[in-house]
Amino acid sequence: MTFPHGFIWGTATASYQIEGATTADGRGPSIWDTFAAQPGKILGDATGERACEHFHRYRDDIELLHELGMPYYRFSTAWSRIMPDGRTIEPRGIAFYDRLIDRLLERDITPMLTLYHWDLPQALEDEGGWRNRDVAAYFADYAQTVHKALGDRVRQWTTINEPFCAAFLGYGNGQHAPGLKDEGAALVAAHHLLLAHGHGAQALRASGADEVSIVLNFSPVLTEVDDEVHREAARKFDFLHNRFFLDPVLGRGYPPELLEDLAHVGTLEPAIEDGDLEIIAQPLDWLGVNYYAPTRSTPLADPAADSNCPLPGLRGMDVMPPQGELTSFGWEQRPESFTDLLLWLTEHCDGLPLIVAENGAAFADVVEDGRVHDAERVRYFAKHIGAVHNAVARGADVRGYLAWSLLDNFEWAMGYTQRFGLVHVDFETQQRIVKDSARFFAAVVAGNSAPE
Ligand code: NOJ
Repeated sequence: MTFPHGFIWGTATASYQIEGATTADGRGPSIWDTFAAQPGKILGDATGERACEHFHRYRDDIELLHELGMPYYRFSTAWSRIMPDGRTIEPRGIAFYDRLIDRLLERDITPMLTLYHWDLPQALEDEGGWRNRDVAAYFADYAQTVHKALGDRVRQWTTINEPFCAAFLGYGNGQHAPGLKDEGAALVAAHHLLLAHGHGAQALRASGADEVSIVLNFSPVLTEVDDEVHREAARKFDFLHNRFFLDPVLGRGYPPELLEDLAHVGTLEPAIEDGDLEIIAQPLDWLGVNYYAPTRSTPLADPAADSNCPLPGLRGMDVMPPQGELTSFGWEQRPESFTDLLLWLTEHCDGLPLIVAENGAAFADVVEDGRVHDAERVRYFAKHIGAVHNAVARGADVRGYLAWSLLDNFEWAMGYTQRFGLVHVDFETQQRIVKDSARFFAAVVAGNSAPE
């Protein structure tokens, strides 16, 4: 059950979910500060103002990584710390990431940097946010700025994390910041996020970045019945979830069937200008894969009825309740889907190496005598790391696996109610407790092998 030599192991986090200190050292507001401040948007009206106080506690958190023997650490930079208005550099913001990276390197931990994990500077949202094409160009300037400052110490770069969520939950169903419910705007935002990825990747290359990637979320689609209507409903969902962003990134443009499916939603095609698809199709060194759960789809009796996916105008299909063992988020645990996904991606991406950039699970953890015996999470990791091994053994080109997440943190619309950490965080006292799952994962990493 051994993984290939040099397999990348680590944990992942994101700026807004852990940093706190939202006004420190000149940081400007991001769309998540604005969104979280509106009553009723986030469960418990939670905000990221404190989160895990990682901005102040980063040295302790790096100690934890060191003690657990984690060779890699994926984190994101907050655009509005580095450029409070989205365009003007704030050296004190860069200085935080300087300190963070230097400390990681002192502890022999390799940093992997994501430039955009959803916290757009509010000043840019005021200009239309991702609906505004110019934001893609501002993103490239931001990418170049960050690379100039940190590129001497960071080799692995990701432009954007999960544009699906940024576009469709942010502008489509309003569950995420900036909270718009406008499907047409969501499609435009999606295209501009891809354009930002392309311009950002070009800027990173021009600035000498070693490795450039994008991180996409995938959800393999399951269907109960093997007939044409069920297959067609599943295909629609599959194209939206698994190919909307991937195919353009791979240089294939938007799948024509998808453009047809989206006819009722509208406005994607007018946003595509000449040359955009070439810009989006930058050569990449690897694809970051986020996998949590599959989706079960079914056709709707009325093909003209709205679906209950993030773009209801994508008609004719519906999402079914998950089955079997669930996480506390209500997500289905199905490691076989993970194996299938990695095998499919290896084939579909023509040999582009894959790195699992996120995989993990939320459970309602309990602290008992100062310990967290999170047996369910241990099982989740065991099965899913096994699933990755299985995929590798069957020919999938997976080069690494990063567990989501190092710490319990601000889980977006769910506030602090969903704990994904390997390390428990008491959000009152900020005390950290290493969970059993962290020790389990540390053993996997040390042995470079999946549990039998
Ligand atoms: C993917 C996102 O990138 C991350 O921010 C989030 O916390 C996890 N999914 C869990 O929902």
